[in-house]
Amino acid sequence: MFPVHRLRRLRRTSTLRSMVQETRLHPSRWVLPLFVHEDPSPKTPIPSMPGHFRWSVDSLPEIVETALERGVKAFILFGIPASKDDTGTGAYMENGVVPLALRRLRRYFDVQPVLLADVCMCEYTTHGHCGIFDGDSVDNDATLKLLGKAAVAYAEAGADMVAPSAMMDGQVQAIRNALDEAKFSNVAIMAYAAKYASCFYGPFRDAAGSTPAFGDRRGYQMAPPNAQEALTEIALDVAEGADILMVKPALPYLDIIHAARKTMSLPLAAYQVSGEFSMIKAACEKGWLEEPRAVYETLTAIHRAGADMVLTYFAIQAAQWLNDGTFDRFA
Ligand code: PBG
Repeated sequence: MFPVHRLRRLRRTSTLRSMVQETRLHPSRWVLPLFVHEDPSPKTPIPSMPGHFRWSVDSLPEIVETALERGVKAFILFGIPASKDDTGTGAYMENGVVPLALRRLRRYFDVQPVLLADVCMCEYTTHGHCGIFDGDSVDNDATLKLLGKAAVAYAEAGADMVAPSAMMDGQVQAIRNALDEAKFSNVAIMAYAAKYASCFYGPFRDAAGSTPAFGDRRGYQMAPPNAQEALTEIALDVAEGADILMVKPALPYLDIIHAARKTMSLPLAAYQVSGEFSMIKAACEKGWLEEPRAVYETLTAIHRAGADMVLTYFAIQAAQWLNDGTFDRFA
């Protein structure tokens, strides 16, 4: 008790504070999401995500190169096809935009970057839902077959890992089976295990053109009030063969990240989603927040809650601030 205990003793100088710092940021723990389109234009800005672009297959190495130079080594690709249909053919075509991008990056960089491919139907379907329809509802089991095909197409094109985000029941098992049958038993699965039906995906849907044409995703994504259910989702994905578990979004769901960390031993990822990025950007543009501090504090919070890895649109910028000493000023 006071006056014997004085916690301020270890807060006196920045070197003392650094010595007792419990959570440290490092770019090797970040994954940069990238949008790749089939458009001939090299890159087009995404208005709701300042500093981010839809890249073409040929211009993609440029951003990957920049990230690698800063120490960011993992990337997750999202495809924007030239045309969509009811069954999302572009998601699993051998020459779809994501397989083309993966082959391009593998030729350019060989083994160095860790390449992940998101596996979902919503960017490729005219209706913008994450599965295909039977009548007026998303047909879970018919969708599983297509997710498996997509995963194999990405593995063939050089993905190290696939990341199913459709929130179909059994998707991890279906993908594991499809990969193993196609002799890709070494390709890993990062499971979007607890993915909530969130307003924070808004800017992403702008970027990917994947806003549902009707209805919403509450029939397959999780309800924000539920935490126990997240642990069930996560346990099922472990049983189905996930290699890495993910919670998404990150900041509004730190309790879920923490609970997953306490109960599971597999590596845990969290996705700081587009809306989390854009709201910080918008506040900083107005001068209401200081961007490096906001990025430092939110990434630290996500790691502190228990995430081993963070998927973040700030990856390159944060790595820069870590390398040039900007973040040290906050320690
Ligand atoms: C595809 C998918 C989405 C995101 C990742 N994969 C959109 C959605 O579910 O509507 C969102 C990522 C972000 O907002 O940054 N299903």
